[in-house]
Amino acid sequence: MNITKTDIETVRGETESRKDRQVDLAPEAQNKAIDTRFYYEPMMAAHPPHHIQWPVKLGDKFLKFPLWVSSMTGGTPRANELNHRLAKAVCRFGLGMGIGSARIALEDPDRVNDFDLRPVLGNEAPFFLNFGIAQIERLLRSGSVQSVKYLVKRLDADGIIIHVNPLQEWMQPEGDRILSVPADTIMHFMEEVTLPLIVKEVGQGFGYESMKKLLQLPLTAIEFAANGGTNFSKLELIRNRVKSKYLMPFIEVGHSAEEMVDLSNSLLSELGDKVQCHTLIISGGIKNFLDGYYYIQKSNTNALYGQASELLKHAKVSQEELDEYIQYQIEGLMLARTFLTVKEK
Ligand SMILES: Cc1cc2nc3c(=O)[nH]c(=O)nc-3n(C[C@H](O)[C@H](O)[C@H](O)COP(=O)(O)O)c2cc1C
Repeated sequence: MNITKTDIETVRGETESRKDRQVDLAPEAQNKAIDTRFYYEPMMAAHPPHHIQWPVKLGDKFLKFPLWVSSMTGGTPRANELNHRLAKAVCRFGLGMGIGSARIALEDPDRVNDFDLRPVLGNEAPFFLNFGIAQIERLLRSGSVQSVKYLVKRLDADGIIIHVNPLQEWMQPEGDRILSVPADTIMHFMEEVTLPLIVKEVGQGFGYESMKKLLQLPLTAIEFAANGGTNFSKLELIRNRVKSKYLMPFIEVGHSAEEMVDLSNSLLSELGDKVQCHTLIISGGIKNFLDGYYYIQKSNTNALYGQASELLKHAKVSQEELDEYIQYQIEGLMLARTFLTVKEK
């Protein structure tokens, strides 16, 4: 190919305008904040190739990147539209997804199709239905817990997530009462129904004894839903004017994702061979890929990170906005994996 004089002039013009722009923008590019969690190692690796993946196992399946769509909404026309957007993105980028509570699908057969995301997700994506501990307790008591299994089969899901949310239920004006110890309910459920199972909170996380119990159960994963992001007790209190006057201090208790990673690591060494759950979904207040990368690297077991509200924010705008957000989360994650190491394990 011949390079013409016009080509040279065009390139020169572009370089000059870029250089001038850099001079203009330099005052804006002053930075004072340093993220001290990482060593940055520019000497040790080339740029990551395009189309590189970071496969992570969940149950019998693999995600292409360790990003999980945490359980959110479902069962209303708006929720269905948002779930379709999330599911399309999951399929496009090779992620995994828990859908919001499918309680209504058990109560009203006409609503089952609202949760039918497998055709959108494709067969590769891990897809888990979500139920509250109070509902599972009721199904066990009424002898109808197999209905969960039928629904999982009907929707071609990979298993279920049980959210354990005693504070949320208490704060919720129309909340359910939990009558049995949740750890007993989960064990009873596992005796009755053989299904891959994830257990999560809803924005408060789990403390030492709860994590100790969960790690010793043969769960597909434990999802933290730690405190520091969306907090469902707070959400319910906002809806409940009288209780919010008095019970608001409760929103400040619980465990951050950082604390929970440390807690899991020490429990993993304490429990040794007794550990039966080998995957964590680190969620609750994960703002971006750097948080996700940091916690995954800190964790001493197979881990992925989950986001709810951040993904929802972008899903609400449009499919394009959501896809763009995820694409750059993945890009950031791969750059982080190439150039950053965590200072303190
Ligand atoms: C709109 C919305 C609806 C949610 N619904 C559920 C639900 O049905 N079941 C559940 O287990 N968690 C639910 N969650 C909690 C999330 O799964 C997650 O644990 C929590 O939002 C913390 O993540 P975040 O800080 O990234 O938002 C919901 C969260 C949001 C934002």
